[in-house]
Amino acid sequence: MTLSSPWRGDFPGILALEKEGQTYLDSAATSQKPQALTAALTDYYARGTANVHRAQHLPAERATRAFEASRAKVAHWLNADSPGQIIFTRGCTEAINLLAYALEEQFHPGDQLVIGAAEHHANLLPWQQLALRRGLELVVLPLDADGAIDLTEAARLIGPQCRLLAIGQLSNVLGRWQPLAELLALARARGALTVVDGAQGAVHARPDVQALDCDFYAFSAHKLYGPEGVGVLYGRAEALQRLEHWQFGGEMVQVADYRSATFRPPPLGFEAGTPAIGAVIALGSTLDYLLGLDAEAVARHEAALHARLLEGLRQRDGLRVLGAPEVALASFVVEGVHNADLAQLLGEQGIAVRAGHHCAMPLYASLGLGGAVRVSLGLYNDGADLERFFAALDRALELLR
Ligand SMILES: Cc1ncc(COP(=O)(O)O)c(C=O)c1O
Repeated sequence: MTLSSPWRGDFPGILALEKEGQTYLDSAATSQKPQALTAALTDYYARGTANVHRAQHLPAERATRAFEASRAKVAHWLNADSPGQIIFTRGCTEAINLLAYALEEQFHPGDQLVIGAAEHHANLLPWQQLALRRGLELVVLPLDADGAIDLTEAARLIGPQCRLLAIGQLSNVLGRWQPLAELLALARARGALTVVDGAQGAVHARPDVQALDCDFYAFSAHKLYGPEGVGVLYGRAEALQRLEHWQFGGEMVQVADYRSATFRPPPLGFEAGTPAIGAVIALGSTLDYLLGLDAEAVARHEAALHARLLEGLRQRDGLRVLGAPEVALASFVVEGVHNADLAQLLGEQGIAVRAGHHCAMPLYASLGLGGAVRVSLGLYNDGADLERFFAALDRALELLR
């Protein structure tokens, strides 16, 4: 049965790559972009640029209006109460670093920061380094065989000293949703702050921060079919009040003299310097595009891709899928074959997948592996992409074994 994507034509990049003989299966690293994004970027740059929040002239007013409209669209998309809860950063990594610095004063020696065993380095290293700076303990919640955090262990480990829980919603290696509702409830019962790394989760299901009831939610636009250079940090109103300013410079200040300064509240107080104006505006257009899609049809398509991908992988002898992926993303290893060699041979056949440790070295170490090959699909992928992948995989394995 053919499995076509009705949205493929909306993504000029995927069509251009196809013409070049490339099959793009690396969307968890970064996605291809819809025409709506490229049109918004071209329009912004072609009409005349201006800096935001600073000047009275027409171009500045127009840029500021479009920039703030994007903030409102992001708030709507996340189901936040208000646009004032949305801080634009340069990416998910920067959003989590912002928290690790801006919350530093909240923690004292002996306090515990809790993370999951499957974290991307972006949601591990900022907390690890904060723990080292402040004499805190970093507690790591173990996974079950499928790749989800073991809730019995979590209930034991999220103890009275827990001051913060920071969890990746969906692992970029294992493709598994974490039991967020239960984990966040355990942390809230301890009075701890809760941070959700939504870099992968935001792509596969529209987040609802009120339903999640988290203090902070972070993601990167570029994985969500949006532009590079823009991240989003949502904060619950009371949680935002606990942030200390962390980067200093233009636009985040109220009054400054040579010896002291006062700073703006969130969000602007946390957006020092000129932001990625065109990209933020283009993110707004990307969200308009995504909101215009039939979400159920997208989910059905992704589920069909997911099923076909896993079925094909499981048919190959000696191939092992890591964990039990729940979205169209799977990492695998093949007995007696190095992941880099396999990715190289796939690349030579025009198949773009990602091999290595996927910025999750401790997870791979705990699995006793040095790396894996990851296939990750977007809403523009189709059955023909998978057929090309499996044909190339069989050829590569024939050569390598
Ligand atoms: C789960 C997860 N968190 C955080 C990040 C960091 O995102 P970025 O590099 O866009 O800041 C990634 C990127 O791969 C990710 O997969």
